[in-house]
Amino acid sequence: MFFIVENKTSIHILIQRSWEYLQFILLLFLHFTGLQTNNKDKQIMCKQTSTSTEQHDELKKIKNSVTNQKWVLSKRPNGNFNPDTDAKLISESIFLLECEEDEVVVETQMLSVDAFIRTMLDEEAYHGSVVLGNTIPAIGYGKVIHAGPSSGYKVGNIVQGMVGSQTHAKIKASNGFLMRKINFPFVPDSASLGLMGLTTGITAYAGVFYCLQKPKKGETVVVTAAAGAVGSIACQLAKSTGARVIGVAGGSKKGAYLLDELNIDGSVDYKHSEKSVPAQLDELCPNGVDFVYDNVGGPILDDLLNKINRNGRIVVCGAVSQYSDGAVNRGLVRGPSNYLRLAERGATMSGFNVMQYGPRLIFAIFGMFWMYLRGKVIMKEHIELGIEYFPSALNKLFTGGHMGKLLVKVNKTNIK
Ligand SMILES: NC(=O)c1ccc[n+]([C@@H]2O[C@H](COP(=O)([O-])OP(=O)(O)OC[C@H]3O[C@@H](n4cnc5c(N)ncnc54)[C@H](OP(=O)(O)O)[C@@H]3O)[C@@H](O)[C@H]2O)c1
Repeated sequence: MFFIVENKTSIHILIQRSWEYLQFILLLFLHFTGLQTNNKDKQIMCKQTSTSTEQHDELKKIKNSVTNQKWVLSKRPNGNFNPDTDAKLISESIFLLECEEDEVVVETQMLSVDAFIRTMLDEEAYHGSVVLGNTIPAIGYGKVIHAGPSSGYKVGNIVQGMVGSQTHAKIKASNGFLMRKINFPFVPDSASLGLMGLTTGITAYAGVFYCLQKPKKGETVVVTAAAGAVGSIACQLAKSTGARVIGVAGGSKKGAYLLDELNIDGSVDYKHSEKSVPAQLDELCPNGVDFVYDNVGGPILDDLLNKINRNGRIVVCGAVSQYSDGAVNRGLVRGPSNYLRLAERGATMSGFNVMQYGPRLIFAIFGMFWMYLRGKVIMKEHIELGIEYFPSALNKLFTGGHMGKLLVKVNKTNIK
């Protein structure tokens, strides 16, 4: 079938993994909506109670402590996030024998660099604010190197979830956002964070197919931040519907990537020194725009509102132009001043959060995998090597220094 889990293939494992995935989505949903109950009181206090000799021997096989290198938030960004002053790399020891019974220690392998991380660095944050001195969050995957007896995991398991921007994560399995990593055949390991990842490929899928009436043959679609992770997938999914797809990105190199590698129909360079975005849109979309997949907000969204057709749809996936200076959490978002085009043209603008689709996300995962198998989507990856590059990678989301999915491979030497 579709999932290969540790080389075993069976319907039973498929169902179990799907259930785990659903639980994971629910946990993330509860976290991001602030509904999660405080489990602190229920936690079992730290006490090493390794009961079996086998387990004891297992612990002896590995070192009793590991050195964790983690990025902490040392200062709240004053406007743009400054990787040199706002984050600090510190070392700490994690003593495996002191872990609680339901804790695991994960040696992280790959981290996803996502725009939501920046929004969590401000004092007020929709996704929850990072406390000063705490680890900068990140979704990633890695290998379990220590598993408490009631954690439900085993040493050697590959797990995925909110591991944070660090080399080793000590996580309470009961309330940590962790699940066994799902490996998809014929796709690279890292696809679980990119193409098949909740915050990337699955977000693009939900935005194109679930949020509003999907694009159809003959329509014109415009995708912003089109050369980025979500945008590049959204471009290809929109193209698969038979629509004409135009991508907006900064610089000629990205424009060439959109045309030559993603095979879409046109590209707008919003950083062009001579031609404005409206002028380029006029050339490329002479009959207007029917569907917008917007990742950036700001002035580009206003330009697109001006071009929207009767009964057009605008999907608000994000507004990366508003995150970098913290505007989003201070009520200073530059709103679309051309929003009355919606009324004039009977158009609809709707935002979405990928979490809101709950069980439908399982169908999105299968749908995406099917698209991939048929060669309808590719995912370019930009991988930074080494945990020390995490903050500078995060900054690239706002300076445009990458194409496709931005990842950090934590340890350059120990993994494939
Ligand atoms: N709704 C949801 O559930 C959900 C879930 C996940 C992500 N998202 C959203 O999806 C969007 C894309 O995220 P991603 O992780 O895939 O990032 P990404 O697209 O890989 O990186 C962000 C891109 O935005 C572009 N950009 C930065 N500042 C800009 C500006 N001022 N004007 C225009 N473009 C700008 C940059 O490309 P250029 O070089 O082209 O400028 C950069 O590559 C974000 O808005 C994020 O919040 C939403």
